[in-house]
Amino acid sequence: MTPAPGALLRTRISGVGRYVPERVLTNHDLEQMVETSDAWIVERSGIRERRIASGDETSGTMGARAAEEALASAGLTGSDVDLVIGATCTPDGMFPATATVIQDAIGAGSASSFDVNAACTGFLTALSVGSQFVTSGSAGRVLVVGSETLSRVVDWTDRSTCVLFGDGAGAVVLEPTQEGEPGGLASPVLRSDGALGDLLYARGPASARPGARGIGDNGADPLRAVASCIVMDGRNVFRHAITAMTEAAQACLAGAGLRAEDIALCMPHQANVRILSAFARNLELSEERVYMNLERYGNTSAASIPIALAEAVAEGRLSAGDRVLMVAFGGGFTWGATVVEWSGVRRPERLAAVPGSRASTAPPP
Ligand code: ACO
Repeated sequence: MTPAPGALLRTRISGVGRYVPERVLTNHDLEQMVETSDAWIVERSGIRERRIASGDETSGTMGARAAEEALASAGLTGSDVDLVIGATCTPDGMFPATATVIQDAIGAGSASSFDVNAACTGFLTALSVGSQFVTSGSAGRVLVVGSETLSRVVDWTDRSTCVLFGDGAGAVVLEPTQEGEPGGLASPVLRSDGALGDLLYARGPASARPGARGIGDNGADPLRAVASCIVMDGRNVFRHAITAMTEAAQACLAGAGLRAEDIALCMPHQANVRILSAFARNLELSEERVYMNLERYGNTSAASIPIALAEAVAEGRLSAGDRVLMVAFGGGFTWGATVVEWSGVRRPERLAAVPGSRASTAPPP
């Protein structure tokens, strides 16, 4: 739609979608791989199972499946999209951007595309960037896709991290609101503190090579010489996550002139049930108003909020005019929050029945 000249544009989420790989890895499967127990994992994290990408699935292919579902729920196709923003810390490659892989797969031939990496805060960051393209009038329809293949950067022998993460993708379509419609992203808060980067990271193939002698001196296996799996100081991450999510949510609510009781549903990054419970207590949000599906997917980083959003829509948890508080925290450290006024989205058909838990028969990754 073309807004009236001079009209102030606001953004609405007009479509949602998600894709999760078929393969389920349960806590009981993990008991066969590392010294752990279902009881320990459930008690410390709330996670019961997670999804694992198949060999030919990537953040790009999963992101494209989620994007197609989001477009279908908005009544659009790829050719309607002006911009694709990918949020991922597990891209298909160093380049091209995973958003470009998605753009090609969904037939968004006239769209531009790029990725943002803010770890688990990636989706909120991309949502804020995408919304600014819409409100400035630079793009009419923006796809924001959070997609992660964390199973490929997890050390499956490290029990302190491998029990926490999973794979999947979620997507939303952003468009300008029509006159008189609900919608809008209020008071986005985005923060970071690079001094805390060492508490949660995964090195890449272009990381520093201390002691290397010069150009071309990459060691015996150039691409793998310095790359690492996820390294995490769990206890400190836990502590900072609660403080940062609380601070971001409070700043966001204050900026929007809202109180916690004005929030119909909080859609937090799905990291750990204990982090989310402490956050909810700090904000005085009752737990029924904090959406959680982490028991089925674990922590899917930038994909977790849009997967949760798509499932909340499929479950009929949101109505037009509801205020949704999104809040996230992740490696970097990065953290942030925003309030979205819900504008009403058709339920994605394939999501009508949210899949339950299925036992895994496959061998460990
Ligand atoms: N199974 C059994 N025992 C375990 C496991 C496991 N999977 N992992 C660790 N342990 C042991 C430890 O070795 C330790 O044993 P010890 O006392 O003999 O030394 C004991 O359990 C306690 O370990 P802690 O690390 O203190 O356990 P904690 O209660 O802090 O829980 C956890 C660990 C779940 C990782 C928690 O710290 C946490 O959730 N941190 C935040 C993690 C997170 O959310 N990260 C991502 C957020 S940002 C983002 O999304 C990228």
